[in-house]
Amino acid sequence: MVRVVFVCLGNICRSPTAEGVFRHLVEQQGLADQIEVDSSGTSAWHVGEAPDSRAQSTARGRGIDLSRLRARQAISADFEAFDYVLAMDSANYDDLRDICPPGREDRLHLFLSFAPLQGLTDVPDPYYNDGFDRVFDMLEVASRGLLADICERHGL
Ligand code: 4NP
Repeated sequence: MVRVVFVCLGNICRSPTAEGVFRHLVEQQGLADQIEVDSSGTSAWHVGEAPDSRAQSTARGRGIDLSRLRARQAISADFEAFDYVLAMDSANYDDLRDICPPGREDRLHLFLSFAPLQGLTDVPDPYYNDGFDRVFDMLEVASRGLLADICERHGL
């Protein structure tokens, strides 16, 4: 089993969308019993909440249901439980680095490092500025790149 967790700030916009998009792709490829998917947030601000209604409606429009997801906070133990800890932006990356146990740094990545989106390192935070459709598109491209990497590395 390969385990993947997507992490943003609130776990109500970017990372639950990434979780939904990536899980959908994994299911489409018939890999659901080999790849486990989760998401979390570096903050505790929205713990227990469903994804933001704008994230839910954007995803629903693309055939992905996020309604059953609930926000949780990222913890150090995630670096033991997950093979891939995927930060949505550089601030999330730095916050995750701070709670990463020694020797587990190789599990931490910027999610867009798996996307051939030239020069982009951060998935922009849509909470205040909107842009949920653009964010969805970026997450979809990066998800394809991540799945290709996992399949290659893990022989799936
Ligand atoms: P996310 O977006 O990190 O993509 O879930 C945000 C959600 C909430 C807040 C900021 C970003 N907030 O400030 O409450």
